[in-house]
Amino acid sequence: MAEDDQAQAAPSQDAPPQDEPPVLFLHNVERRYRQGEATLEILNGAELAVWPGQSVALVGPSGAGKSTLLHVAGAAEAKNRAIEILVYLGLKERLAHRPAELSGGEQQRVAIARAVANAPRLLLADEPTGNLDAHTADHVFTALTQLVRASGLATLVATHNMAIASRMDRRVTIREGKVVELE
Ligand SMILES: Nc1ncnc2c1ncn2[C@@H]1O[C@H](COP(=O)(O)OP(=O)(O)OP(=O)(O)O)[C@@H](O)[C@H]1O
Ligand SMILES: [Mg+2]
Repeated sequence: MAEDDQAQAAPSQDAPPQDEPPVLFLHNVERRYRQGEATLEILNGAELAVWPGQSVALVGPSGAGKSTLLHVAGAAEAKNRAIEILVYLGLKERLAHRPAELSGGEQQRVAIARAVANAPRLLLADEPTGNLDAHTADHVFTALTQLVRASGLATLVATHNMAIASRMDRRVTIREGKVVELE
């Protein structure tokens, strides 16, 4: 019995904890840029789920769409988190209301939601060590990792530094507009 309990308490880093919802869930993301006559398809049906506490490296060549994906993830995460909290506080039918169209009690609940929503569950970083020498990059990344582990945050980090990517739980890249798991 005791052994079983211990095994359950220490899941492998790679296995997502299926009893918790992901902190980031991107489904069928499309992003294209028009350049004169041409259309650049950067993201085309991209899917990505990140679970609580997971660290994910986003690697790939320049122009693959890493920063684009991080922007989408930031906007998706903030809006979903806000909606989730407002629904939890009983404001499901008030999501589209302006502040003046809410009662005093409803406005108070929005204030609570705003405070709680600011506690992020996912850290997004776009080449956090991009301008640093190898030694300093390693130092900064170690500090970042410790901070993230201590706080239980999940991270999605775009990086060209494969030494850093290899230290994270998962590595993904973007191919033909889709997120592809590496290894
Ligand atoms: N506002 C824009 N208008 C047109 N094209 C854009 C725009 N923003 C990005 N792109 C194009 O989209 C593609 C993906 O850009 P993105 O910045 O996501 O790449 P990246 O993978 O982050 O590259 P890097 O490693 O150099 O930072 C690039 O080819 C870029 O030129
Ligand atoms: Mg970039």
